[in-house]
This record gives sequence, C-alpha cells and structure tokens, in this order.
Amino acid sequence: MDKQQIDLSLLDPVLAEYGKVKGSLITILQNAQDIYGYLPKEAIERVSEETGIAASEILGVATFYTQFRFAPVGKYLIMLCQGTACHVNSSELILQTIKDELKIEDGQTTEDGIFSLKCVACLGCCSLSPVMMINEDTYGSLTPDKTRKILRELREAAV
Ligand code: FES
Repeated sequence: MDKQQIDLSLLDPVLAEYGKVKGSLITILQNAQDIYGYLPKEAIERVSEETGIAASEILGVATFYTQFRFAPVGKYLIMLCQGTACHVNSSELILQTIKDELKIEDGQTTEDGIFSLKCVACLGCCSLSPVMMINEDTYGSLTPDKTRKILRELREAAV
C-alpha cells in the first residue's frame, strides 16, 4: 500500500471509539496496523490530531513496542530464527545468504515489495535448526544452497 492509497477514513471508526478515551493509544495503533499492515506516517498524524498527543510522542511510544512496523511488509515475511540452537547451527550463515540474495538487511523490505526480513527469537522447532518461517510455512535444516533455492522459487512464483 503506497502513500496515495492510504485511506484515512478507515481510521474513523477506531478514532470515534477510542480517540477520546485515555490510555487507548496502543489500542488505536494496533487497530491502525491491522487496517494498513503497518503504521503509515499519515495515520500517526491523524491519530495525533484526534487524541491531542504529539506525533513525535506517538512515534516514540510505537517504536518502543516491537509489534509495530513503520513500513509496509513484503508479500513474503521471512522470520529467521536467531535462537541458541539455530545460532549454534550456523543461522548466521543463513542470514548472510538471505542478505546477499535479497540485498536487504534485517527489518527491511526488498524494493519490489516481495520479501521482508526479520530476525526473531526461538521459533519453537529447534530440532529443525537452523530454521526460518516464511509467512505460515516453516523451513528447517537450512543450508545456504537450500535457502537460495527457496527464495528463488518464491520470487518466481510471485512475479
Ligand atoms: S532456536 Fe531456532 S527454533 Fe529454537
């Protein structure tokens, strides 16, 4: 969703319900993220107008919580485990492979909007380490070659 497509009227029901209720900022931001998939700058400004809380303060609160995103997420969200078991089994090498292949860093999205990368803590399937999840699917026992193949297949399927 790019700038032109941000329909701020979608926020109206949320602001009507919570805009004047003290202590509701996080609820409003969660709702905004559910609507847009991330927190667009325009939405933060709109929330600021309605609640009277400065946009810079809202941004400060939102950045404190890892659940909030400030840019749209790609079609495929890669969550690469950096937990202990995965780390011992060379997750760092997989991270490097993903970065090389997609030319993005942790927390970024590829220019074509297909992939986002996020390093996360233990995904709960350590016996498969090193592990990544892409959207709902789990990929284990990763090697650089296997990782590259997965990413290339997904990219081909996405275009
Ligand atoms: S440490 Fe990676 S899944 Fe547990």
